[in-house]
Amino acid sequence: MPTEQHETLKWIGGVDGCLRMIDQTRLPVEFAEIDCRDAAAVWEAIKMLRVRGAPAIGIAAAYGVCVGLQTVLDADEPAFFRRLRETVEYLASSRPTAVNLFWALKRMETKADSLRGRPVRKIAESLLTEARAIHEEDRQMCRAIGRHGAELLRDGQGVLTHCNAGGLATADYGTALAVFYSAAESGKTLHVFADETRPLLQGARLTAWELQQRGIDVTLICDSTAAQVMREGKVQAVVTGADRIAANGDAANKIGTYCLAVLARAHDLPFYIAAPSSTFDLSISSGAEIPIEQRDPREITHGFGRQTAPDGIQVYNPAFDVTPAELIAAIICEKGVIRPVNEKTIARCFLKAREQEGKSGATNETTASDSDKAV
Ligand code: MRU
Repeated sequence: MPTEQHETLKWIGGVDGCLRMIDQTRLPVEFAEIDCRDAAAVWEAIKMLRVRGAPAIGIAAAYGVCVGLQTVLDADEPAFFRRLRETVEYLASSRPTAVNLFWALKRMETKADSLRGRPVRKIAESLLTEARAIHEEDRQMCRAIGRHGAELLRDGQGVLTHCNAGGLATADYGTALAVFYSAAESGKTLHVFADETRPLLQGARLTAWELQQRGIDVTLICDSTAAQVMREGKVQAVVTGADRIAANGDAANKIGTYCLAVLARAHDLPFYIAAPSSTFDLSISSGAEIPIEQRDPREITHGFGRQTAPDGIQVYNPAFDVTPAELIAAIICEKGVIRPVNEKTIARCFLKAREQEGKSGATNETTASDSDKAV
């Protein structure tokens, strides 16, 4: 399998460096990178979906804290921490649904608080190390998700995915797409159907591009074609990513995901979610508490520069929907495969991983023995 892979995010230089990212709004026609040198640039990149996908947003925000602190590297501690709080709050206001954003910002803040009393430049250096750790851990999570998920698929199967949960959405080769890449690495031939994913076409612009670049057999379909490919027996499983998973397993993902889960149930096909532990929000009991981002109506009425609806039309444009846990056959995370999906199995999975971390002295990392079986 060709392994054409581009780095979605990278930090350039030292503590006074910058965050370089692929500008995903310009794909697939143009491959361009942008350098973010202050928090405003990172905020804008997240808001405008230059960087998007839950794990990638979290990583970008962590580095965003680092660029945001560059103006106070020689300041006193109160000014440094004031700026830290402002930057964290500001970046947190960029997008509401993907919990990875808040998870990464919290982790950066906690790290900084643990270092109070040290010279602020040293704290800033440690925060850069923390952002790099978040980045590296996400790479490892992608690989573990890929390994666990690949076992659920059989050679020759057709699989359907929605939006982009690939390398462009993460530090490595994705969550849902990691499952396909890993299956391909282990010698299985899959045929992927990629929903185009209206209104912003992440499936067409990003997933189709990414899979094609990596030599995976992929067919692009309109979102409304999903039921038909299922009825025709062309797909045997659906795998998507997630932006936030509640304690009971309800999962928010790109608008249209819920619809796919209902269709999968109607056609007796397994619907899987692939997501790292940073996407779980165990502080909320169900998907009803997940804040859903509402986006600009013009994404629907004037998509990609052309007016396609009458002036003054009312528009409803939620960016995400919530799939109830009972429609999810399994959640594939780096800790293992959670099945059935409910509050108990999720809690057990996290508890077991914590116990293993305790035993091995590991912090956030997945060990090979984590679980190759369902939990
Ligand atoms: O609006 P987007 O493009 O950020 O939405 C992204 C998704 O819904 C992805 O499926 C999700 O973040 C998982 S990415 C591994």
